[in-house]
Amino acid sequence: MQKVIIVGATSGIGRELARIYAGSGNLVGVTGRRQELLYSLQLEYPNHIVTECFDVTGSECISHLERLIEKLGGLDLLVYNSGIGESSEVLNWEIERKTTTLNVDSFLEIAVYVFNFFVRQGHGHLATTSSIASIRGNFQAPAYSASKAFQSVYFEGLHIKARKTGLPVFITDIQPGFVDTAMAKGDNRFWVQPVDKAARQIVAAIGKKKWRVYITRRWWLVAKIFKWIPDWVYHRMG
Ligand SMILES: NC(=O)c1ccc[n+]([C@@H]2O[C@H](COP(=O)([O-])OP(=O)(O)OC[C@H]3O[C@@H](n4cnc5c(N)ncnc54)[C@H](OP(=O)(O)O)[C@@H]3O)[C@@H](O)[C@H]2O)c1
Repeated sequence: MQKVIIVGATSGIGRELARIYAGSGNLVGVTGRRQELLYSLQLEYPNHIVTECFDVTGSECISHLERLIEKLGGLDLLVYNSGIGESSEVLNWEIERKTTTLNVDSFLEIAVYVFNFFVRQGHGHLATTSSIASIRGNFQAPAYSASKAFQSVYFEGLHIKARKTGLPVFITDIQPGFVDTAMAKGDNRFWVQPVDKAARQIVAAIGKKKWRVYITRRWWLVAKIFKWIPDWVYHRMG
């Protein structure tokens, strides 16, 4: 039985990840700001879910995390899944600020704390849900794509750092394409994947200790194409 924390488990991908881990007998700590959704998840798996309701952008973020680790009696795996991705077509400072505060600053605060925690205890696994959007700049949501690029590149650095420790500390950068959740809105969506399928593939990739994974698998192709499209073509798209 693993002790798992899903940061951002009230809805969408995080909620489904919590269900899979709890349903397979693990002890899962779930977080988010919406208390009632955390409780309803706990009701589904009363012996396998513990909750801690908090806003990761708040000043008490790490104290909440420490309390949750205490409730679980330890930690083997943490998935940083909280995220927002609002469109900022008319460039809007408030949207850009909110996006980077959550997807960069809070991500970083938790990643640094948990990485050092795992190195101290000699083992552990840290994962984040970045995005295929991390691969290129996006004119509709520039802060979102940049923040996900930050997560992705940062985790490549942590992956190398973890290997150099020689310890069984693992890092996984999860890059979903479109997954059918409240966040995936807009008209230009394609290959939208069901959330349960995406979550199952994420759990499998974490189990195999992959350092980067595209979800669902077919998005590997989009990732490769996106990476290699010449700038002059990409800048005329959309
Ligand atoms: N859906 C997609 O197509 C897609 C594609 C690529 C990547 N992703 C990434 O996958 C992750 C999950 O997204 P989703 O699609 O499942 O969307 P979602 O259903 O909106 O889930 C977002 C989660 O983040 C939490 N969250 C938001 N603000 C927070 C805050 N200030 N403090 C703590 N938790 C906060 C939410 O909980 P509360 O609101 O209760 O706080 C919720 O549990 C995100 O990081 C997203 O960028 C999604």
